[in-house]
Amino acid sequence: MKPGLPLIRHYLQFKDFRAEEYSYLFERAAIIKKRFKNYEKYTPLVDRTLAMIFEKASTRTRVSFEAGMYQMGGSVVHLTTGDSQLGRAEPVEDSARVISRMVDIVMIRTYEQSKLEGFAAHSRVPVINGLTNEYHPCQILADLYTYIEHRGSIAGKVVAWVGDGNNMAHTWLQAAEILGFTVHISTPSGYEVNLEVAGLRDASCFKVFKNPLDACRGADLVTTDVWTSMGYEAENEARKAAFADWCVDAEMMAAAKPDALFMHCLPAHRGEEVAAEVIDGPQSVVWDEAENRMHVQKALMEYLLLGRIG
Ligand code: CP
Ligand code: NVA
Repeated sequence: MKPGLPLIRHYLQFKDFRAEEYSYLFERAAIIKKRFKNYEKYTPLVDRTLAMIFEKASTRTRVSFEAGMYQMGGSVVHLTTGDSQLGRAEPVEDSARVISRMVDIVMIRTYEQSKLEGFAAHSRVPVINGLTNEYHPCQILADLYTYIEHRGSIAGKVVAWVGDGNNMAHTWLQAAEILGFTVHISTPSGYEVNLEVAGLRDASCFKVFKNPLDACRGADLVTTDVWTSMGYEAENEARKAAFADWCVDAEMMAAAKPDALFMHCLPAHRGEEVAAEVIDGPQSVVWDEAENRMHVQKALMEYLLLGRIG
C-alpha cells in the first residue's frame, strides 16, 4: 500500500464506490486502453505484486488481471484452493494476515461474500472481488465501460436482465442505483433477485416482469448470464426446465430499441440463455466486453494502489 494513504480501500461490491469515482475510473480506463492499443509502455506498478486467489474456475478474470498487472510493470501470484492451504482449512483470516504481508493487492474469486469480507477485514492491502455467489462488480465495471464506449452515458437508460437473479443481477441493481439507470428484470419463479443481497436504498431503480419479452421492450441494453452459476451445478437439470423460456432470442432483441446492445459476461451457452444469432449477431458486444475487463481492472488497481493520478 502507498505510504500516507489514510485508509485501505477494498472493492468488495459495486456500491463500495461513489458515482464520481466511477466517472474517474472510466476516464482512466479509456486512457489506459488507448496506451495499450498504441503499444505505449505504462508501468506505474513496478515492484507491486497482485495475489489472485481462485476457489472457482476462470478464464477472463484470470487472464485480464494477470496480463493487466504484468503490463503495468507488476507481478502476480496465482493461488487456488487445490494448491494452497486454503483447501486444507487454514482459516481465511490467517491466510489474509499472511498473504497481505507479502503482496500489495489481492483479488479473490470465492463462494460466499462473507468469506471475501472475512479476508478483507484481516488484510493489510486492498482486496478486490473477482466474483462471489452474491456479486461480480469487476464484470459490471467492464459492462458499463463497454456501454459508454458504444453509446455514451448510461444514465436514464434501460437495461433488461433476462434470466437468473444471480451475482450479476444483484450487481446490475447496485449499479443502477448509483449511476441512475433502470433495470427491467425477468426471472423464472423461484429464481428472483434477493433484494437483501442487492442492498438497495429503495426500489425505484428496477421493475420486475413476468414475461422476458416485456422486460426487453424499449431496452437500451439486453443482457443475460448462464442458467446455472458456479457452485449451483447440482440444480442444473431443474434449472434447465425452469429457464427454458428465458433464452434471449431475436424476438426479444427486436422488442428492444433498434440500437440496443446485447451483453453476456461469458462463458455462454448458445441455445440455452442466448440464441446463437443474438450472441454472434450485430448487436452483440460480448468480445469488447470481455477485453474491457482488462482495461477497467488496470484502472481499478491503479486507483486502489496509487490513488488519483494527476
Ligand atoms: N466473466 C467472467 O468472469 O469470466 P471467467 O469466469 O472466465 O473469469
Ligand atoms: N453467474 C456466473 C458468472 C460467471 C462469470 C457464475 O457465477 O458462475
